[in-house]
Amino acid sequence: MKAEDIKKIAVIGAGDMGHGIAEVALLAGYKVAMQDIEQKFVDRGLTRIKESLDKLVEKQKVTAENREAMLGNIETFTDVAECASDADLAIEAVPEIMDLKKKVFQTLDGAAPGHAILASNTSNMSITDIALATRRPEQVVGMHFFNPAVLMKLVEVIKGDKTGEATMQTTYDLALKMNKVPVRIEKDSIGFAYNRVNAPTQVLLSLMVERGHVTPEQIDARMRKIGMPMGPYELMDYVGLDVAYHGARYFSERLSRDYEPPGWLKAKIDAGELGKKTGRGIFDWSKGRPEIDLSKAKEDFDPAVLIAVQVNEATKLLEEGVVNSADEIDKAMASGGGSGVGPFQMARGIGYDKLAAICENLAHEFGVKVFEPTATLKKGKI
Ligand SMILES: NC(=O)c1ccc[n+]([C@@H]2O[C@H](COP(=O)([O-])OP(=O)(O)OC[C@H]3O[C@@H](n4cnc5c(N)ncnc54)[C@H](O)[C@@H]3O)[C@@H](O)[C@H]2O)c1
Repeated sequence: MKAEDIKKIAVIGAGDMGHGIAEVALLAGYKVAMQDIEQKFVDRGLTRIKESLDKLVEKQKVTAENREAMLGNIETFTDVAECASDADLAIEAVPEIMDLKKKVFQTLDGAAPGHAILASNTSNMSITDIALATRRPEQVVGMHFFNPAVLMKLVEVIKGDKTGEATMQTTYDLALKMNKVPVRIEKDSIGFAYNRVNAPTQVLLSLMVERGHVTPEQIDARMRKIGMPMGPYELMDYVGLDVAYHGARYFSERLSRDYEPPGWLKAKIDAGELGKKTGRGIFDWSKGRPEIDLSKAKEDFDPAVLIAVQVNEATKLLEEGVVNSADEIDKAMASGGGSGVGPFQMARGIGYDKLAAICENLAHEFGVKVFEPTATLKKGKI
């Protein structure tokens, strides 16, 4: 099946991601069938879609007639099998629990037409394992949207061990039709591309505070002074310290113990200080966005260290064959976050030799293997 043949998309789970993916599909002109386990969850998802479309009408990005037409294109269900019965492609966005995902895929496999592609929006789980629940593993693929799905451009298209090339290509082309920036992930390895490249930065930020080298305010002030709209610690608070903590645990269990979250972060979680959403995290958010005193900037902190650990991790994706080229990784990193620029683009301006030396020093200083420069980074011919 080609992307042009896809007319109807089923979305399983109408939560934060599911309702957003359904809206993206509606905006691209598809018929959508959206499902959740209870009517009240389906209704909430539909209300969120309506509210979001209202905003787009207000901003004159969508006409009022178009909004009505899109709402006429969505049907809702509480039963997975009914929802997928005439879909050309289904996207699963239920909670990140393997048994739950497998159950959903087993039902989808039994109910969806034989030609249908079954995609998962999992953040981290193995597409190969999910596909085992079906009799069509060559038609099972990862389609990883970022939050909020309507705004974020990146979609990682993930190949499981048995995913067919036709399925990869059709899913990639569908993401393009949805006005997204797709990036091919050739192996379903931990964190895929975007989350993996960002992970060592979290280790470094955590360790710098743990060892008492710096305060979050000193670093955020420094990064704000050189033009970043939000410092890295404020960003952690903004996204949620629970997200950082669970992500670190996940990487620690599967990739390297270096990712184990530090004591101060665990203490914040235990105290319920999760950042913006609870009014307090690393900073105080009770009166809105925290005031960062720019005079506290640690002027001798070299921002290149944050780039060095990212570029180094990105070279591991090349060495492991997870992504095929540096340009693809740059595309993923530039469109998955707010920076608009990829790590290799930045590295070329700084020099690979300097970045490799920084990684060598960091690995030595903190005793952390994850920071050790790769052979690719040291060679610098990327
Ligand atoms: N939130 C994010 O930032 C984000 C980003 C990318 C990917 N993801 C991934 O997307 C998936 C969904 O995450 P979310 O943040 O939307 O979660 P969520 O909790 O907001 O939504 C999940 C929805 O699935 C429903 N559900 C539970 N069991 C179900 C079942 N058996 N059948 C159908 N629906 C069921 C729940 O009622 C809920 O409405 C997860 O795999 C997550 O890792 C999340």
